Amino acid sequence: MIQDIESVLVSAEEIDRITSRIADEINRDYAESNKKLVLICILKGSLMFTSELMKKITLPAEIEFMKVSSYGAKTTSSGVINIHLDIKRDDLAEVDFLIIEDIVDSGRTLSHLTRYLAERGAASVKTCTLLDKPDRRTVDFTPDYCGAVIPDRFVVGFGLDYNEKYRNLPFVGILKPEVWGGR
Ligand code: PRP
Repeated sequence: MIQDIESVLVSAEEIDRITSRIADEINRDYAESNKKLVLICILKGSLMFTSELMKKITLPAEIEFMKVSSYGAKTTSSGVINIHLDIKRDDLAEVDFLIIEDIVDSGRTLSHLTRYLAERGAASVKTCTLLDKPDRRTVDFTPDYCGAVIPDRFVVGFGLDYNEKYRNLPFVGILKPEVWGGR
């Protein structure tokens, strides 16, 4: 895989520092809440970030998984979010949800999911992303916790894929344009 990477954008060491910083913020922000803290890992890309982050959260957090896809996201601002795996629980009024993502691009996935869980009656809904690409935004959305703001480059690794590959790289790297057919 490594020969397909142009350069490392966020190193493994940097990711470790980022997860420590965000976990500290979460530990502080939710310390006084009397609700259940429930982390939501958005499959598949958020797998590695969620697992690294949750190891550093010292509050008693639960974990849930959701899988969503967004059609038309790349070309239009009016695509539809499809929920393929949903949360099944009846205690939403007792739950502080923290949705964890690998990347925010157009912003539509997290803005939709935040609204969806709030409308279902969650006590609170916040969002956390490892990477943010604000240049790609098509909706007005700002994550509550953000690891790193990055330029609009094709990034893979630490959960992020190109055609389902490169997710297992331990860092975030820029994919060589010749690999994905860009320039
Ligand atoms: C990526 C990412 C977010 C979404 C962000 O998922 O993990 O879920 O896109 O894009 P948005 O801000 O434009 O909505 P993807 O659909 O690539 O699925 P994956 O995590 O399974 O790779």
